[in-house]
Amino acid sequence: MFTKEIYVKRREELKKSVKSGIILLLGNGEAAMNYSGNTYAFRQDSSFIYYVGLDTPDLAYILDIDQNKEYLLGDELTIDDIIWMGNLPSLKERAAGAGIDTVLPFSNLATIIGAGLKSNRTIHYLKPYRYRNQLILSEILGVPCRDAPLGVSTDLTKAIIRMRLIKSAEELAELEDAGRTGYAMHIVAMKMCQPGVSEREIAGTIEGLAISTGNRVSFPTILSMNGQTLHNHDHSGILQAGRLMLCDAGSENLNYYASDFTRTTAVGGEYSERQKNIHNIVLKAMNDSIAMAKPGITYKSVHRNAYRIIFEGLRDLGLVKGETEAALEAGVPALFMPHGLGHALGLDVHDMEDLGETLVGYDEETKRDTLFGYRSLRFGKRLEPGHVLTVEPGIYFVPQLIEKWRAEKTNADFIHFDKLKDYYGFGGIRLEDDIVITPQACRPVYEKRLPVTVEEIEAAVKS
Ligand code: GLY
Ligand code: MN
Repeated sequence: MFTKEIYVKRREELKKSVKSGIILLLGNGEAAMNYSGNTYAFRQDSSFIYYVGLDTPDLAYILDIDQNKEYLLGDELTIDDIIWMGNLPSLKERAAGAGIDTVLPFSNLATIIGAGLKSNRTIHYLKPYRYRNQLILSEILGVPCRDAPLGVSTDLTKAIIRMRLIKSAEELAELEDAGRTGYAMHIVAMKMCQPGVSEREIAGTIEGLAISTGNRVSFPTILSMNGQTLHNHDHSGILQAGRLMLCDAGSENLNYYASDFTRTTAVGGEYSERQKNIHNIVLKAMNDSIAMAKPGITYKSVHRNAYRIIFEGLRDLGLVKGETEAALEAGVPALFMPHGLGHALGLDVHDMEDLGETLVGYDEETKRDTLFGYRSLRFGKRLEPGHVLTVEPGIYFVPQLIEKWRAEKTNADFIHFDKLKDYYGFGGIRLEDDIVITPQACRPVYEKRLPVTVEEIEAAVKS
């Protein structure tokens, strides 16, 4: 938790931005795994953590802007809670640590919101992503459960996105901390990347590392020889010489900040010529994107430039043909990279995706594309100092997608479908770093860069 002044200042700024009405932030409850007493590790809501800082379940925060009053709602621990789960300072003391003076029992939530509704006050709340919070909203707003998300406040959502997108110095220090663990996870994965080792053993080892230094992983680890499946959580393979291992993993530190790195490693640390060629195209796309990312540039244009490099690199290898601009217009590179170049990173690995991906990543000026590939870019708008983003180009050979395009003659003038057959079984290569936009350019969130050239990765595997 940061100092209380930070939370007080954030809430003051939020109040000024939303201007009137009642702001309600719901914290998360425990989530049952297989019965109610056996829960997943508790994860607080990120916006709640950002404004209130308290990471225990069953809390809510209310800010009555017009009456200039704020409340933390929650119940003190019972003797049973203390016996089974341990003691904590009183809620009153913990609220004081966030600069909140008034604590009320959780049951007051319905009373306060009910009174607000009666006097036609606007209740500002965020889109729920857990059914528990959707149920609470349904109850206190007096609407059917399925309608609870309908009254979501755009003003509050946009105000929070504006604030959370620009990372302060203390947040950057937390992100750096998450980056340090993410770095260590990937170094271990590279060293373990040897023939005969199971994917599960590597995934489990690096997830354990994340837990040993912080809260958990920032998302379920993606680790597989079948890197062509973008979010592959199947770790049932045994590493084979000649294959690639794609590892996309990161940590969530004790203050909930995330890291997210990807490296693709040749099993045993020996790349074939073909693997090297594809790796070097992806690396060029990554390095050029990092060189381009600076205030005033849209990330959409950086994504398009990465597509350009990928198309031209594959054209040099004889896998595609034709004129670059026409290929970019037609979306040809999406056959090989059907995802976006990156996303915002912060308290969530896809920062604030719960608030709406397009609201986070686009605005009046920069609209989201609809064409396959381009439309998957989560963050496209103009970059500003303090934005933290991932840069994660990739080249994948997805046999089913290639066969679909071949059968439907999609962009057939640009693609040597017959030559691509040799790449079925190749997998995919993705490389991902985390950057922060500075006033002049950008820099890595964590100062040390993971091995990234073929030579560096080969050396890391063999070290
Ligand atoms: N690291 C997973 C993702 O960005 O979707
Ligand atoms: Mn990512």
